[in-house]
Amino acid sequence: MAILGIETSCDETAAALVTRDGEIVSNVVSSQADLHAKYGGVVPEVASRRHLELLDPVLAEAVPDWDEVDTVAVTAGPGLIGALLVGLSAAKALAWAGRLPLVAVNHLHGHVASLYLKPLDLEPPFTCLLASGGHTMLLDVRDRSGYTVRGTTLDDAAGEAFDKGARLLGLGYPGGAEIDRLARAGDPEAYRFPVARVPGLDFSFSGLKTALLYRVRDLAPEELARRRADLAASYQRAIVRALVERIEAAGAERVAVVGGVAANSQLRAALPGAALAPLALCTDNAAMIASAGRYGKAVAYPGYLELDAFASVS
Ligand code: KG4
Ligand code: ZN
Repeated sequence: MAILGIETSCDETAAALVTRDGEIVSNVVSSQADLHAKYGGVVPEVASRRHLELLDPVLAEAVPDWDEVDTVAVTAGPGLIGALLVGLSAAKALAWAGRLPLVAVNHLHGHVASLYLKPLDLEPPFTCLLASGGHTMLLDVRDRSGYTVRGTTLDDAAGEAFDKGARLLGLGYPGGAEIDRLARAGDPEAYRFPVARVPGLDFSFSGLKTALLYRVRDLAPEELARRRADLAASYQRAIVRALVERIEAAGAERVAVVGGVAANSQLRAALPGAALAPLALCTDNAAMIASAGRYGKAVAYPGYLELDAFASVS
């Protein structure tokens, strides 16, 4: 038997089957990135409509045998509210039809739970950097059912800094992977970008983005084309340094890194001792949601029909 995970919080439509002991049976992700690329970012209404079209085929591929499913786990928030509602409504309908229990999963807990899947199967306690398009947090993880927040971003998330930086450099969306790729051809020492110093364990990335804006504005178009890789490498280095410095400041014995930005090659190289989410599980997927579902509260049929999605964590 297995848990069915469903994820539609942003622009990935995803479904996965995970066993009780964390074995991934199937993990299907259909990215809408191409659809949103021409707008330079995710258009919420376009995302909701696309989830509606993609969810059925994604589910059909992820679940070859419905008799294998004993629980449904679904992202209830945070994320784009219309996008979340598509996944949540589908999950309710499927659970209701099968008289199955349903677990409402917090997307951020889902990212952390990507570490609990086999073969990694990481055991708390550890300090976790969660760096994605919407969040940048340092978490204290004591057990698999949750976490406490030790630090968070005061403005942009790290992934947002990558995406906005890529836009300023005239690269595609989503920007993190593009900057990562281009930076390999550049000199990370070519430009000096500031690393914001904020008190405690919080983060700030908006100043960095503004610094890049000024650098780009100062360059003539042909010069920008020539220096683009150097700018990408230097900018990426500043983001990575900010993240690594905060992890070091947390003084943790055991460190883990999750979320889309955990796919960054320089960040991974800068943290040789850390437990890193496997590359395929860094960006949004449903295996991590099913994994979190193993440790969340299962609501019995039909109590979950009144559950609501939430856009942000208040
Ligand atoms: O976790 P995720 O898929 O979605 C959210 O929950 O937000 O993270 C997406 C973010 C985007 O901002 C994307 O640019 C970034 O992760 N990202 C990367 C890389 N791959 C994805 N950032 C830096 N380097 C990468 N290789
Ligand atoms: Zn995410």
